[in-house]
Amino acid sequence: MIPTTVHKHFLSDRVAHFTESVIREMTRQAMLHGAVNLSQGFPDFPAPAEIKEAAQRAVAADVNQYAITWGAKRLRDAIALQMRLWQGISVDPEKNVTVCCGSTEAMVATLLAVSNIGDEVVMFEPFYENYGPDSVLSGAKPVYVKLRPPAVSGGEWTFDQKELRAAFGNSTKAIIVNTPNNPTGKVFTKQELGLIRDLCLEFNVLAITDEIYEHILYDGATHTSLASLDGMADRTVTINGLSKTYSVTGWRVGWAVAPEDLTNAIRKVHDFLTVGAPAPLQEAGAEALALPTEYYKELAQRYRVRRDHLIPALESAGFKCFRPRGAYYVMTDIRAFGFANDIDFVRHLVQNIGVAAVPGSSFYRDPRDGAQQVRFAFCKKSETLDEAARRLRKLRSKN
Ligand SMILES: Cc1ncc(COP(=O)(O)O)c(C=O)c1O
Repeated sequence: MIPTTVHKHFLSDRVAHFTESVIREMTRQAMLHGAVNLSQGFPDFPAPAEIKEAAQRAVAADVNQYAITWGAKRLRDAIALQMRLWQGISVDPEKNVTVCCGSTEAMVATLLAVSNIGDEVVMFEPFYENYGPDSVLSGAKPVYVKLRPPAVSGGEWTFDQKELRAAFGNSTKAIIVNTPNNPTGKVFTKQELGLIRDLCLEFNVLAITDEIYEHILYDGATHTSLASLDGMADRTVTINGLSKTYSVTGWRVGWAVAPEDLTNAIRKVHDFLTVGAPAPLQEAGAEALALPTEYYKELAQRYRVRRDHLIPALESAGFKCFRPRGAYYVMTDIRAFGFANDIDFVRHLVQNIGVAAVPGSSFYRDPRDGAQQVRFAFCKKSETLDEAARRLRKLRSKN
């Protein structure tokens, strides 16, 4: 038998403080208790038939060996074309694009390519849970700036300009901006991105943007890439991927678009980390990116219907919902239920009500900040959302 414990001496100090991903843990809990899984952000409906067929064709045509390390040419060409069409950013597919195993790898490869020990990386909190560990793995220190929930229903999550400025200093190497944002649903405005741009220029800081929800927008919100702002093209790494736009989170295809020197560094790290992303799925990705504009309109429209299905169910169960303007999550306030913290509440929800959600504390450095928040994902079929709504009726708020 292999023993379960090893000598501490074998373990890296870097990972000593990492906890297991709470989001992926919630998915396992959902399976254990037969709960409706509104925790992890993966769709439970089929991916578009055209792109599944394209993947099958690529396998049948024997596109089954390593693609070019930094990405199949067809996919890089399609990425460059998309960035020009959607954001007016001119991209050279030979010099600026690195295709990775999901935007997850693109983010960590970028941070490894730019960080030195002692560098600081600014990020907003609540945050997508990978950014902190990614920075630590690269030797950098995360510095957090608060996004505050709207005081009135339908309002926006906002940051304090002074707080953001105070986070920048001589050690700041980069800022991570995720828009549309997980978990808040915030879509950063041009004016907010302008403030970030000004600080990046003043403090000579790189911007790393995570734009994987770029096409999932509601209520007339529009997405702006930070790289499209004056002065930012040569100091931005734009990260995106197939997962969310084409409902293929398991394909693991994402990319980083960056100035040439940075791209060379990212490509080297990527090569040593993973060699390359799945070759046949990159071919299918090129066809996905060529889908007509109608596809993206419908994608956003369908998500709006799902959002407007889940929010009333949550509200009538007693949650206060922060209405998202983008991405496919609802952050909620759970104070009405009178639980000591989000972990106890989520445990009750998964075990006794049969719905899995993510405790808010997993999105904050200090768990107390998220102790009365819980996140629900609505990238689900209407039957799934109906079943969740039916189960949520059993919840009792104290109001
Ligand atoms: C903000 C954000 N970035 C990245 C990812 C992961 O993307 P990928 O599947 O491309 O690795 C997620 C997944 O939930 C996410 O919410």
